[in-house]
Amino acid sequence: MSDLPGFKDYFNLTGKVALVTGGPPLPPIQVPPHTNSPGSRGIGLHIATSLLLAGAKTVFITARKTPGVQQAVAQLNALPGIKGKAIGIPASAAETAEIEGLVAKVKEVEPKLDILIANAGATWGGPFEASPDWASKKVVDLNVRGVFNLVRLFTPLLTLAGTRTSPSRVVIVSSVAGSVVSHIGNNGTIMYSISKAAATHLARNLAVELGPRNITTNSLSPGFFPSKLASGLIEILGGESELMKANPRQRLGVPDDVGAAVLFLVGPGGNYVNGIDLTLDGGSSLTRGGMAQVKL
Ligand SMILES: NC(=O)c1ccc[n+]([C@@H]2O[C@H](COP(=O)([O-])OP(=O)(O)OC[C@H]3O[C@@H](n4cnc5c(N)ncnc54)[C@H](OP(=O)(O)O)[C@@H]3O)[C@@H](O)[C@H]2O)c1
Repeated sequence: MSDLPGFKDYFNLTGKVALVTGGPPLPPIQVPPHTNSPGSRGIGLHIATSLLLAGAKTVFITARKTPGVQQAVAQLNALPGIKGKAIGIPASAAETAEIEGLVAKVKEVEPKLDILIANAGATWGGPFEASPDWASKKVVDLNVRGVFNLVRLFTPLLTLAGTRTSPSRVVIVSSVAGSVVSHIGNNGTIMYSISKAAATHLARNLAVELGPRNITTNSLSPGFFPSKLASGLIEILGGESELMKANPRQRLGVPDDVGAAVLFLVGPGGNYVNGIDLTLDGGSSLTRGGMAQVKL
């Protein structure tokens, strides 16, 4: 027998303070029959939900549009049985001045931050030569520069929360697009893919930079999860049923997949995990999709 004194609390977030960027799901999308999801979709909302259900005391969520933030806060605070609460703060995670304002508003409510989830992301798809410069700027400003500044400006609050035995946590929501070349041609997402490669490598750099300050940093790389951001590409690729067939697990991601993966990274049980990229795609990035079926 081994002594596992922490076992019962591996995923217990009682008393923790968290912030999730890109929390609100807009617009609500009909839930497909293969999921048991109770409602709206969007990876940030799944994450905020799991943090509250795991006992978090305060979960700040932020996005640009006030109605979306308010809608998400109302949904989260109606979760049955939670002891904590969600607080919404509208802000753009791509604008340094707005991130500074966000830090100030968080400090008005909580003196320190245990968990920072950099989830908000932007994408753009289209042919390579015609890529407008504004689209590249938008993608990099949020997915790379914004995440860099978000973590940088919250580091003082994260440092206050972290201890040697209970480090504070940063999770960067990256993408499998950061490690494979997913989409080229007419619906190419090359700059998105590059930005996610950078986001994943940013997490590794921060793991080494911030580890000695009792802050761990990891990235989470989802495959397809139906959402506003992903739905256009999912349709272009033949719809959810085609993508499900091509996935080794024969389905797309569901909210529970995200909730469980994040709790592993931010819960007490994951406190020695630092600098990893957790792929969450059912194994789909390891395949060649239809190519694997071709009989030579
Ligand atoms: N869904 C997938 O299949 C998938 C796969 C791989 C990776 N990801 C990654 O997962 C993350 C979440 O994606 P999602 O699919 O859940 O997207 P989503 O449903 O479109 O949600 C994106 C969220 O980000 C917010 N947002 C956009 N720009 C922002 C900004 N400048 N500042 C603050 N918030 C901003 C949006 O709200 P506002 O518009 O109100 O700001 C929204 O709440 C992204 O980083 C994405 O790259 C998603």
